[in-house]
Amino acid sequence: MKSILIKTTIPGPKSKAIEARRDQCVAKALGGSLLPCHIAKGSGAIVTDVDGNRFIDLTGGWGCLAVGHSHPKVTKAVKAQAGKYLHTDFTAVPYESYIEVCEGLAKVSPGKTPKSAALFNSGAEAVENAVKISRGYTGRSGIVVFENAFHGRTLLAMTMTHKAMPYKYKFGPFASDIFRLPFPTPYRPTIKVEEIERVLSNMINPEYLAAIVVEPIQGEGGFNVPSEGFFEELRRICDKYGIMLVVDEVQSGVGRTGKFFAIENWNIEPDLICVGKSIAAGLPLSAVVGKKKIMDALPEGAIGGTYVGNPLACVASAELFKIFNEEHLLEKSLAIGKKLRARFEKFKEKYPIVGDVRGIGAMQAIEFVTDRQTKDYASAETKQIVHDCLENGVIVASAGINKNVIRMLVTLEITDAQLSEALDVMENAIAKACKK
Ligand SMILES: Cc1ncc(COP(=O)(O)O)c(C=O)c1O
Repeated sequence: MKSILIKTTIPGPKSKAIEARRDQCVAKALGGSLLPCHIAKGSGAIVTDVDGNRFIDLTGGWGCLAVGHSHPKVTKAVKAQAGKYLHTDFTAVPYESYIEVCEGLAKVSPGKTPKSAALFNSGAEAVENAVKISRGYTGRSGIVVFENAFHGRTLLAMTMTHKAMPYKYKFGPFASDIFRLPFPTPYRPTIKVEEIERVLSNMINPEYLAAIVVEPIQGEGGFNVPSEGFFEELRRICDKYGIMLVVDEVQSGVGRTGKFFAIENWNIEPDLICVGKSIAAGLPLSAVVGKKKIMDALPEGAIGGTYVGNPLACVASAELFKIFNEEHLLEKSLAIGKKLRARFEKFKEKYPIVGDVRGIGAMQAIEFVTDRQTKDYASAETKQIVHDCLENGVIVASAGINKNVIRMLVTLEITDAQLSEALDVMENAIAKACKK
């Protein structure tokens, strides 16, 4: 049986009626939604809208649903928790699930150094706090980030994010002491790995730097996997100058690459890790987990927030750790990645618009170009492919600073049949874009 079911025009009449109300009261600056249809129910990889249309979701709420929509074990735990208490603030009245999440994070973090964690609400908050912790620990202020990076939308995180429009619009003045380096990839080798130290030192005295903040695989920036030796070199530079190496795993973490953290694909231990998105299976939760001596160096009360580590999110997250073990989701991520990669490589053989296929584990993407030699960005064609997929029942997300990449943020619970069905729709959309 097919998973996709399209019964109405997209959007259908009920979605259209709701959208008309949105026009009246929702701030336009939020932008439109990827799917113009309102959800009635989500289950695993399937979204059913208010008109009864069924979609295969390859985006999972921008990468928040590694365990799928409404995983039964998560919803059961959240319902039970909702019947007990909703909020106390951990620093007012503590609760065990907060500690369970920190234990879980410490256990899955790479390296032998003892770890501790602090919980927050959003990815941007985790990034902000990793910067605060790095500055507090080192007594320095400079932060190095990379081209194509996305770290969030708060003032500091927005400054650390690369792309101007729409994220930075007229939102200055920006935070100071943020320095940006090229992010080298095999497809677009913008800087040689062995040049990084020289370029960095020409820009800023490394001894002024508190942290280098880097996504192991850039998410919004286009699923860019760095060139060989990049992380080893960053670790060496950080050790040489006493800089904190902070990895932003908000998008790449929680099993996407077949390891719990993407940085485990390289043989280095970061100082701090930012986690978010999927960590609480669809509830708002983020964290900084890192070397205990660094995390514990700040004065008491220096970090925190009213809702950070909310009990509902904590029980969902505690459940997520169990689900990863019980349902072997890291192995599933690798299996999904293999299937995606094999199919994407075939697309590359058949369709000249496919410039590059890349990723690790289930974190796979296709970069579309108008010309394989010049590698010019096929942004309009990518938009068309996404639109075509949506109309035919597959929710996919673009990425890349030039919006010419399609990225996979599938739930690791997706079935083989659902994945094949979704990829058939994608292939049709790519073939159509090539004919134009
Ligand atoms: C790598 C990375 N860091 C930080 C963020 C910001 O997370 P949030 O939107 O939860 O603030 C994102 C969001 O996409 C992200 O991909």
